[in-house]
Amino acid sequence: MNAPLPSKPTAMDKLITRLIDQSNGWLSFDRFMASALYAPNLGYYSARTQPIGLMASSGSDFVTAPQMSPYFSRSLARSIEEALLQTQTEEVWEFGAGTAQMAFEILTTLGDKINRYVIVEVSSHLKEVQAQQLQAFKDKVVWMEQLPEHFSGVVVGNEVLDAMPVKLIERRSGVWMELGVARDVQLNGLKLDWAPRPTDLSPPIDIPGEHDYLTEIHPQAEAFIKTLAERLQKGVVFLIDYGFPEREYYHEQRSGGTLMCHQAHQADSNPLIAVGQKDITAHVNFTGMALAAQDSAMAVLGYTTQAHFLINSGLLDLLEGASLEEKAMAQKLITEHEMGELFKVLALGVGTSADWEPMGFQVGDRSHTL
Ligand SMILES: C[S@@+](CC[C@H](N)C(=O)[O-])C[C@H]1O[C@@H](n2cnc3c(N)ncnc32)[C@H](O)[C@@H]1O
Repeated sequence: MNAPLPSKPTAMDKLITRLIDQSNGWLSFDRFMASALYAPNLGYYSARTQPIGLMASSGSDFVTAPQMSPYFSRSLARSIEEALLQTQTEEVWEFGAGTAQMAFEILTTLGDKINRYVIVEVSSHLKEVQAQQLQAFKDKVVWMEQLPEHFSGVVVGNEVLDAMPVKLIERRSGVWMELGVARDVQLNGLKLDWAPRPTDLSPPIDIPGEHDYLTEIHPQAEAFIKTLAERLQKGVVFLIDYGFPEREYYHEQRSGGTLMCHQAHQADSNPLIAVGQKDITAHVNFTGMALAAQDSAMAVLGYTTQAHFLINSGLLDLLEGASLEEKAMAQKLITEHEMGELFKVLALGVGTSADWEPMGFQVGDRSHTL
């Protein structure tokens, strides 16, 4: 029987091949993930026409809270309004705005309370999608490729930290290895393989036991927080994402890590196939984010579950008068087994009064668990 013909290499295959060859046959996973997601014109977020949506039938791969229910962004808008007042600032800065559903709701809710809405987005394709969605606010919205040296305002990011490249490390027979990506050269088409090599890297806390243990560390997300802290002159940062404090993240029983891929609303754990065609993501270590902020003189103002944050920000009041269908969708944002408990909100502040507790954390603050 004939062996199946290898498929023709795609432009992404060629790029990954070149990167592996240029790095002497071993490409660190974080560099691989950065290209798989963000390589210009080829990476998942650069090329995918509709990554985010409610159902696979729309051609999307996963859903996020702003897409699920507008009441997510409307509740967040209340906390943003309070933070703008508290910090005497007039701008909102959103990182990774996706389809700009959240920006649209925040701008609609807060109107003239926002002077300028700045979107920092790495995907040029998504910038076009965002510009379309925000036509009605085109005098107020600007896009920036990078953060300026200094800025002030309220910063928001929903599911941005989880989309930042991570390093993969694995304890094998008691020794920590870093996982890279190598080529399996026997085929014409690209076949990728895991390639472990010894490393000095290890998780931020000890993992009890001697068992094999795969996990992630997040230098890029931590560097992002440090840059924010250095450049934000006055303001508050709200970061919303799935994740845990480090004690839970690096629990001895979580021995397979949190890395996941999403395509057509199905999850899988192999980022080395269908490269560029699916999302790759890892959970957030919120303790690492809080420590990175504190190291750069940014204070932790609160940390809680998405359910507590949204309810504290007035979700239930806002839902009065909503239709049953709207209420059912909004319920998913706060139900424990849907998004309510796994998703967390971390608030960081610069130049805010130390005794101010933002409304979103007034009941159920879990900063002590970080
Ligand atoms: C999972 S999507 C979330 C999109 C949107 N916030 C939502 O909730 O629907 C991740 C987004 O973050 C963007 N992104 C990733 N890294 C970024 C960075 N360093 N700066 C700005 N945007 C980034 C991606 O291009 C994408 O728009």
